[in-house]
Amino acid sequence: MINIAIMGATGAVGRQMIICLEEEKIEVGELRLLASKRSVGTVFNFNNKDIVVEELNKDSFIGLDIVLGAVSADLAREYAPYIKEAGAIFIDNSNAFRLYDDVPLVVPEINGEDARKNNGIISNPNCSTIISLMAVNAINKLSKIELMIASTYQAVSGAGNGGTEELLKQIENDDYPPKTFKYRIAYNCIPCIGKNSGQGYSSEEDKLLNEGRKILHLPDLKVTCTCVRVPVLRSHSISISLKCQRALNVEEVRAAIAREDGVVLCDDIDHDIYPMPRDVSDQNKVFVGRIREDQVFEGGIALFCSGDQIRKGAAANAVQIIKCLF
Ligand SMILES: NC(=O)c1ccc[n+]([C@@H]2O[C@H](COP(=O)([O-])OP(=O)(O)OC[C@H]3O[C@@H](n4cnc5c(N)ncnc54)[C@H](OP(=O)(O)O)[C@@H]3O)[C@@H](O)[C@H]2O)c1
Repeated sequence: MINIAIMGATGAVGRQMIICLEEEKIEVGELRLLASKRSVGTVFNFNNKDIVVEELNKDSFIGLDIVLGAVSADLAREYAPYIKEAGAIFIDNSNAFRLYDDVPLVVPEINGEDARKNNGIISNPNCSTIISLMAVNAINKLSKIELMIASTYQAVSGAGNGGTEELLKQIENDDYPPKTFKYRIAYNCIPCIGKNSGQGYSSEEDKLLNEGRKILHLPDLKVTCTCVRVPVLRSHSISISLKCQRALNVEEVRAAIAREDGVVLCDDIDHDIYPMPRDVSDQNKVFVGRIREDQVFEGGIALFCSGDQIRKGAAANAVQIIKCLF
């Protein structure tokens, strides 16, 4: 039996983690639900038992094997030393430690074996990175990817519970002011997520630029991307163009994607079948379609993928990491 805490249990990711732990039939001894003072006393059901949310503090981790992190990067940095001191393994969803040399960055279907080489912290990659790499990993097995160009269409729930609430309120009342987002998101697209990280890329784009190299073990992989917030409630989509070492044809790519674990081929333009966020939500699988020859890179491939960023992009991926460890 594994003793587990969810740090940030009341948020968009934390709530989903409770569901995923139950779905994946993880043998949980104690489940401790931690959040801010605001949420103390909130009750969640887990395996037919009511569990009351406790206030997060530095003594919250005693007796635990695993801490699933679903809080901000600042809180993850603040509490990581106490988690380590308690002897638990910290599986963190924030970007606090992702690029540290001694912290594995893990998508179980791609590099699950990296999870075991941890020093007490394992990072869950960025949600758009997970969904993109799930879509392209099968192609990388056919021939090493040399470069990737991506544009994301990111749902409002990617910004947490506050993002969902803001879109729903603005649809009801056009005067509802932006808080979570810089601009009104209803009936709009915002082509910048996060802050300027230097050289004109946003902090969200930096994650997609850098994390793939570490996960795919491709130190020379070149990536460029634009991350866009769109008025979709749930599930991120990504348009991707790839160039690989060898020229690929569309049929071998389709066959490889159809064989891949955790991925669904959803690709028939003549019958209007392609991945869409409404269809893929509340599932752990990533859907891939619109597969075609790229018109810029000879032998390159263009595709479109969608996946539930709260599930596979965060909670489900973190719970699958537990399975890699035990
Ligand atoms: N949403 C996504 O699709 C997604 C995907 C991948 C990764 N992530 C990452 O996952 C993490 C959580 O994101 P989220 O979307 O779930 O955010 P969220 O919905 O805003 O939830 C934030 C959680 O943090 C807790 N919290 C805030 N301040 C706290 C404090 N001072 N002490 C203790 N707990 C505190 C909140 O508790 P209260 O309810 O008590 O305030 C809540 O449980 C972030 O690092 C985010 O970048 C999110």
